[in-house]
Amino acid sequence: MLEVTSSIAEVRRKVAMARIKGLTIGLVPTMGALHQGHAALIDAARARCGYVVVSIFVNPLQFGPQEDLKRYPRRPAEDEALCREHGVDLIFAPSDEEMYPDRQLTIVEVLELTRGLCGASRPGHFRGVTTVVSKLFNIVQPDVAFFGQKDAQQAAVIRRMVADLNFPLEIAVVPTVREADGLALSSRNVYLSPEERKAAVVLYRALTKAKEMVEKGERSAAAVRRRLLETIAAEPLAELDYAEVVDYDTLEPVDFIDGKILLALAVKIGRTRLIDNFVVEVRDELRK
Ligand code: PAJ
Repeated sequence: MLEVTSSIAEVRRKVAMARIKGLTIGLVPTMGALHQGHAALIDAARARCGYVVVSIFVNPLQFGPQEDLKRYPRRPAEDEALCREHGVDLIFAPSDEEMYPDRQLTIVEVLELTRGLCGASRPGHFRGVTTVVSKLFNIVQPDVAFFGQKDAQQAAVIRRMVADLNFPLEIAVVPTVREADGLALSSRNVYLSPEERKAAVVLYRALTKAKEMVEKGERSAAAVRRRLLETIAAEPLAELDYAEVVDYDTLEPVDFIDGKILLALAVKIGRTRLIDNFVVEVRDELRK
């Protein structure tokens, strides 16, 4: 039976009760406006955990002054219905005051991994994410927390934070859920006009072409990156933020493609900034 609360004390009580019953606690942190991407995280949590908590909080700390905090979609009734449908036990939907009753003077920041990719165009974003996720981990104290591969840098940063700060939990990363034409589901897709929505598939198209090159044997990151850039440039409504070929864990750009890498894109379609990525794994026996 789904329960909903905005109170930290109430979350602690409910989770403590679930623990006494011997249930494993799963946490899915979200900002709401839930879609099938979030649902995949919830389903993964449901499959592994006896008690599933979904947090819904549009975290002001992770939005820049020029970003979309005010117009970010908020749909509490629909979110509740999706959570009920997917067997969530508890929604934690706190107010800003509940999460930040005072000025937040303590921040959690992961160095280096947050410098490139989205970190470069969104200064302060990742420390907002790591600070709120740390708070959520301390409030819910889950055994497993679920994140989407869609936000590859976020997942890498949080994995590193959990390792560096010895959070006693496991991070599970769930594959990206896409529309039929390949566009990754995102709460921000609602900003796209019909014309922009069509153009937005260019991210998936570029990533697919780049991945095919690697699969056919291309090992030069520069050549693969060029293919990404060309494909984005061919779409008049798209404006590139970045196209990178980076190591899966360190997020450092690579020259030669080997092991597990990320093809990562951020593109503005009109006013809307979209991100997407593919994980590619190459094991070249010759390179030893
Ligand atoms: P939000 O954008 O709501 O995303 C919540 C989780 O859903 C993230 O882990 C994200 O990677 C995952 N997700 C989003 N779209 C997805 C898709 N198409 N397929 C699979 N997973 C997808 O990310 C955040 O919120 C916030 O930064 C948060 C971690 C909650 C901290 O405030």
